[in-house]
Amino acid sequence: MKTAALLSAFLSLGTFAAAESVPKTDYDVIIVGGGPAGLSALSGVSRVRRSALLLDDQHYRNDPTREMHDVIGSDGTPPAAFRALARQQISRYPTARFKNSTVLSINPIPGPYSSFNVSDNTGSSYTARKIVLGTGVTDVLPNTPGVQEAWGKGLFWCPWCDGYEHRDQPFGILGNIADVLGSVLETNTQFEDIIAFVNGTDTPASEAAATKQHASWKEQLKAWNVTIDNRTISSIERIQDGGVHRNNTADVQYDKFLVHFTQGAPIERGAFIINAPTVQHSNLPYQMNLNVKNEKIVVDTSSMRTNVTGVWAIGDSNSDASTNVPHAMFSGKKSAVFLHVEISKEDSQSMISKRSGLSQRELVREAHRAIGTNLEPVWEQVQKK
Ligand SMILES: Cc1cc2nc3c(=O)[nH]c(=O)nc-3n(C[C@H](O)[C@H](O)[C@H](O)COP(=O)(O)OP(=O)(O)OC[C@H]3O[C@@H](n4cnc5c(N)ncnc54)[C@H](O)[C@@H]3O)c2cc1C
Ligand SMILES: *[C@@H]1O[C@H](CO)[C@@H](O)[C@H](O)[C@H]1NC(C)=O
Ligand SMILES: *[C@@H]1O[C@H](CO)[C@@H](O)[C@H](O)[C@H]1NC(C)=O
Ligand SMILES: *[C@@H]1O[C@H](CO)[C@@H](O)[C@H](O)[C@H]1NC(C)=O
Ligand SMILES: *[C@@H]1O[C@H](CO)[C@@H](O)[C@H](O)[C@H]1NC(C)=O
Ligand SMILES: *[C@@H]1O[C@H](CO)[C@@H](O)[C@H](O)[C@H]1NC(C)=O
Ligand SMILES: *[C@@H]1O[C@H](CO)[C@@H](O)[C@H](O)[C@H]1NC(C)=O
Ligand SMILES: *[C@@H]1O[C@H](CO)[C@@H](O)[C@H](O)[C@H]1NC(C)=O
Repeated sequence: MKTAALLSAFLSLGTFAAAESVPKTDYDVIIVGGGPAGLSALSGVSRVRRSALLLDDQHYRNDPTREMHDVIGSDGTPPAAFRALARQQISRYPTARFKNSTVLSINPIPGPYSSFNVSDNTGSSYTARKIVLGTGVTDVLPNTPGVQEAWGKGLFWCPWCDGYEHRDQPFGILGNIADVLGSVLETNTQFEDIIAFVNGTDTPASEAAATKQHASWKEQLKAWNVTIDNRTISSIERIQDGGVHRNNTADVQYDKFLVHFTQGAPIERGAFIINAPTVQHSNLPYQMNLNVKNEKIVVDTSSMRTNVTGVWAIGDSNSDASTNVPHAMFSGKKSAVFLHVEISKEDSQSMISKRSGLSQRELVREAHRAIGTNLEPVWEQVQKK
């Protein structure tokens, strides 16, 4: 009786809901960006035979660095070698396509289910049901001569990246005085001889900002033996290349730099950390009118969804407050799971000609089951800058 009632309810639903067919597109998904985030998303969708096109114009954030670190299984691998192996492995899946081009615009196609029209700089356009942006960020470095050249080769922003190869060397912190203690708290296990080159930012306003963050910042800096040099930096000169002068057995790179000032004697250092802002690499998040705050595409971090249905943002570009290769891969994988399940749900709905939309909670639950919920708390713990 119960079954019959359910069945009749179901059928009556079917009579008033119009059949909504899913969009016919060139691909299930188009991924923009071929860094570790985009590659991970492509791998994830390819394993479940979703047709996918990855469009990439190959200006990777970690291009300048000699080797990539803290990516288990690939520690010390040059980033280009890492990406090449990933491409080679993913190319084994017949549903995966790569193209080297710049995406200029992505426009939604109206309909009951999401789909998009993607145009690139070769004059081609492709359609897909789902979009994943792994478009990355760009570091905005100070214009001081020598900084750009040193970037990724002795001058780094991330203690996990290249700090270990320069451990115990004379160390410099570049940036505003208010950020110095933060850098010290991240690097004190790697360096003892630390000078903060604050470049004229030791002003009452910056000191007040530092005090607001850590009331006892001065005492703490003293306790960590940090010297503050407030002189204006005129250039950073490389006097030795750690790419050549290195001991691979001991994992040490001997870069050497002279910091020059507008006044007084230069100071020699082996490595630096710098606090510099990042901006979105691509204009697409703005062109697509996604929610972007503080130069990050705002996502629901349980799914990496943006505020536009059918669009995900992964890797450095998103608001998950984590910018490293493991996060890029993790978030790429997450988007792959969610979009795969979302397409299946749409297909399923369409097959039974039921109009009612997807339940967000149902989708989240299903995707979590597929990705393995036990990963979640672990990842939250290990998330680094
Ligand atoms: C100097 C340096 C060293 C680093 N070292 C490490 C390290 O040792 N370990 C670590 O874990 N992390 C490291 N990182 C961080 C790491 O580089 C990033 O976390 C990672 O690259 C993020 O991957 P992604 O895929 O989000 O972006 P990216 O790797 O930057 O890739 C984005 C891609 O999207 C492309 N793109 C953007 N817009 C478009 C468009 N409109 N059309 C087509 N393509 C587009 C870009 O050209 C690029 O190819 C380092 C960063 C820097 C700056
Ligand atoms: C596209 O870029 C990748 C990575 O840089 C490269 O290996 C490949 O040869 C390029 N493909 C073409 C057709 O230029
Ligand atoms: C996609 O955009 C291109 C370029 O504007 C256009 O020529 C094409 O007709 C569009 N395709 C669809 C399906 O909207
Ligand atoms: C130092 O300060 C000057 C003047 O404000 C600025 O132009 C320059 O980019 C700064 N350099 C560094 C390395 O912070
Ligand atoms: C403390 O810092 C000074 C100046 O940078 C340096 O010369 C000295 O070696 C440091 N002391 C220790 C114990 O590292
Ligand atoms: C630091 O340098 C700036 C710019 O030259 C100057 O205004 C400020 O007074 C200096 N701070 C100290 C503590 O000397
Ligand atoms: C490199 O490091 C290893 C291990 O610490 C050491 O035995 C070796 O002497 C070093 N080589 C040189 C050239 O310094
Ligand atoms: C996404 O967020 C942006 C910025 O807040 C907003 O302008 C846009 O309307 C939102 N889009 C949707 C589909 O909600």
